[in-house]
Parts: sequence; C-alpha cells; structure tokens
Amino acid sequence: MKFFVDSADIDAIAELNDTGMVDGVTTNPSLILKSGRDILEVTKEICAMVDGPVSAEVVALEADAMIEEGRKLAEIAPNIAVKVPLTWAGLKTCKVLSDEGKMVNVTLCFSVNQALLAAKAGATFISPFIGRLDDINLDGMELIADIRTVYDNYGFGTEILAASIRSANHVAESARIGADVITAPPEVLKKLASHPLTDKGLEAFMADWAKTGQSIL
Ligand code: G3P
Repeated sequence: MKFFVDSADIDAIAELNDTGMVDGVTTNPSLILKSGRDILEVTKEICAMVDGPVSAEVVALEADAMIEEGRKLAEIAPNIAVKVPLTWAGLKTCKVLSDEGKMVNVTLCFSVNQALLAAKAGATFISPFIGRLDDINLDGMELIADIRTVYDNYGFGTEILAASIRSANHVAESARIGADVITAPPEVLKKLASHPLTDKGLEAFMADWAKTGQSIL
C-alpha cells in the first residue's frame, strides 16, 4: 500500500519524507490556503522533494478552462497528477489529459457510480472521501470496499486512493479492504507508529538498561 501525505506544508512533508514512508503527496485548494504559499511555487518544491505523484488541483469549473489549468499544472514537473473534481467537466478533462499521458486524480468521489465513471475516463487515481461520508452518518469504508469489488470485477487499473482519512483506524481498514493508496494528514500518519504497549515496553527496557551501567557506544 502506498502512503501519500495530504498536505502542502513543505516542512511537514520533508519530515515524513526523511522516514522513507512517503510515496506521494496530495494537495487541494484548502490545503494551499492553509500553507499560505503560491500554488505553483510550493507545488514545484514538493515535486522536487518527493519522487512519487504530487496531486495539484484545478479550480476552473468548465472543461476547456480546466484542461488549460491542468496542462499548466502538469508543466510544473513530470510527477504531477492533475486533480479534477468528479463532475462531467472534470471527467472530460480527465479523458483529455490522460489521453495525453498525464496522471489524473479524480477527487470528491462519494459513490460507486462516480468511481466507475472516473475509471472509464482513464483516471490514474480515484479519491473517495471516507471522513466526509462518516461526517453525515454514512459508511466511508463501505464505499472503499464497493469500489474495490467493482474495479476488480472489470479489471480497471485506476488506483483507489482513500482520502479524507481522519484516523489510524481508517488507514488499517483501507489496507484490509485493499485500497491501493491512502492519503492522510501528517499528524495521522505519525500516529500509525503509536501503541501504548510499545511505550510501556520501551520504558521498562530503558529502566533495566540503566541498571546494567553499560553503554553501547
Ligand atoms: O485530499 C482531500 C481530502 O483528503 C480532504 O480531507 O479531512 O478535509 O475531508 P478532509
């Protein structure tokens, strides 16, 4: 399973990238706002730091303008995945840009039918939003499982990128179901290493080690 960082915070991405756990990055207009950075500048810096796909989102609503924006974003670096919303204009843009050989991430997916359309439009990634479904008392995980079944039924190569991940449990469940990628905020990714028994065990080892009076270096 690939891990993408859902952030446009260059320092937070760099910290995680140093652990070797980062297979890509996803951004969106809200994350660009939060970073306080210029989209073209910060995206270029992220692309230079991370080897894998870096999603950068278009903001036009009509297909022609979306295609133009997508081509401009794709010029930033070879590892750009143009992110488009799951609308008919976004699907048309997905088809045009993927036919040109560009990676496309279709975002704001909330149903199996939407995921089917994205796969048929040649999407590299489909981004179902788990947390936002959970927010309205629907089951985000069920959507991931349904898309997995449908894509496998027909052999679609579009990768399932579980997004809007809010907890370590969302990551584990996505992995159990077989999502290809998860994208999560840095704070959620950091929590994946946490376990109270690890902390407790380490504390005991350190206490005993101190009693030995030894040192390794
Ligand atoms: O990349 C978009 C997605 O991950 C957003 O997450 O928490 O704003 O629903 P959230």
